[in-house]
Amino acid sequence: MKQMVLVSGGAGYIGSHTAVELIEAGYDVVVADNLSNSDMSGVEGVRKITGVDVPFVQVDCCDKEALRRLFEQYEFGSVIHFAAFKAVGESVADPMKYYRNNLLSMMNIVDLMREFGRENIVFSSSATVYGEADELPVTEQTPRKPATSAYGNTKQMCEDILRDAVTAYEGLKGIALRYFNPIGAHPSALIGELPRGVPQNLVPFITQTAAGVRECLSVFGNDYPTPDGSCLRDYIDVVDLAKAHVVAISRMVENKNKAKYEIFNVGTGNGVSVLELVERFEKVNSLKLNYKIAPRRAGDVVAIWADTSLANEELGWRAERDLDDTLRSAWAWEKNIRGIK
Ligand code: UD1
Repeated sequence: MKQMVLVSGGAGYIGSHTAVELIEAGYDVVVADNLSNSDMSGVEGVRKITGVDVPFVQVDCCDKEALRRLFEQYEFGSVIHFAAFKAVGESVADPMKYYRNNLLSMMNIVDLMREFGRENIVFSSSATVYGEADELPVTEQTPRKPATSAYGNTKQMCEDILRDAVTAYEGLKGIALRYFNPIGAHPSALIGELPRGVPQNLVPFITQTAAGVRECLSVFGNDYPTPDGSCLRDYIDVVDLAKAHVVAISRMVENKNKAKYEIFNVGTGNGVSVLELVERFEKVNSLKLNYKIAPRRAGDVVAIWADTSLANEELGWRAERDLDDTLRSAWAWEKNIRGIK
């Protein structure tokens, strides 16, 4: 019998790509999302790409009774918990919104997994938990730094909730995946990132500037202690990232995990600067981007990239898609949603 996986937040950017990869790997999927920061286009994209009429349930994971009905209705053995708020600036302005939503949804999922005897959970964590690391690249052993935003704090706290829960409760095991900077879109250009309002992240801002939706990209700082003065990040293709979730689920389903709670970095292992990324985007898509150097953005770390050895060795996973292809896919997606030829 095929295993079923609940994908919370499955209408969103990373969730929709993961739903596709799960289905293509032979899993049944049920998508749950409250559509607070997404719409049905993500789910429709998943259906179109896979040809599977993926069940979708509109539910807020903070609503435990509604979530219980979902657990009653579907016999998934595993959960990938993406559903969360993720805007760093907003979380600083309204921390309670973030604590309430991100922590309560996590606790409800864990409670119901126990109640219904569901075994495996993958949690969407983030490289943000490392803060400004003392040594690069960061390994999973690199100490976490105190979070500088409520958003970052919820990622750390959810990791801890998961660790403590799977340690204490029999029949529960978990994997936290620490994402670096997910970018790009599915090669079909049918799903991708759909930021609401002004994009906070670099690549959506780049593609919207190229599409003429934004006038000019601001490169936040060129006086950092890096080779070209702009910040360094580890940009991971969203399809590669999605595949890491499939491997993590399979590892637990097949009982190959080495501990009840495991953590893996999910990145490429390469640090790329903002200016390098802008130049490569221009080159591979044969266009010129309107950009200017602007002051540093508060809260940005200078540089971070992943040591991916653990994921490479333990999960047998590595990032495969070339950065140029990823940047082409980001532009193809933006053109598709804007109707640009
Ligand atoms: C940010 C969050 C991180 C979160 C991730 C989710 C912060 C400090 N970190 O990561 O916690 O997990 O998003 O996707 O907000 N940049 C520009 N111009 C822009 C936008 C970005 O120069 O218009 C630069 C930034 O200064 C940074 C790089 O691009 O150096 C990447 O920025 P972004 O895409 O926002 O990701 P992070 O800040 O790394």
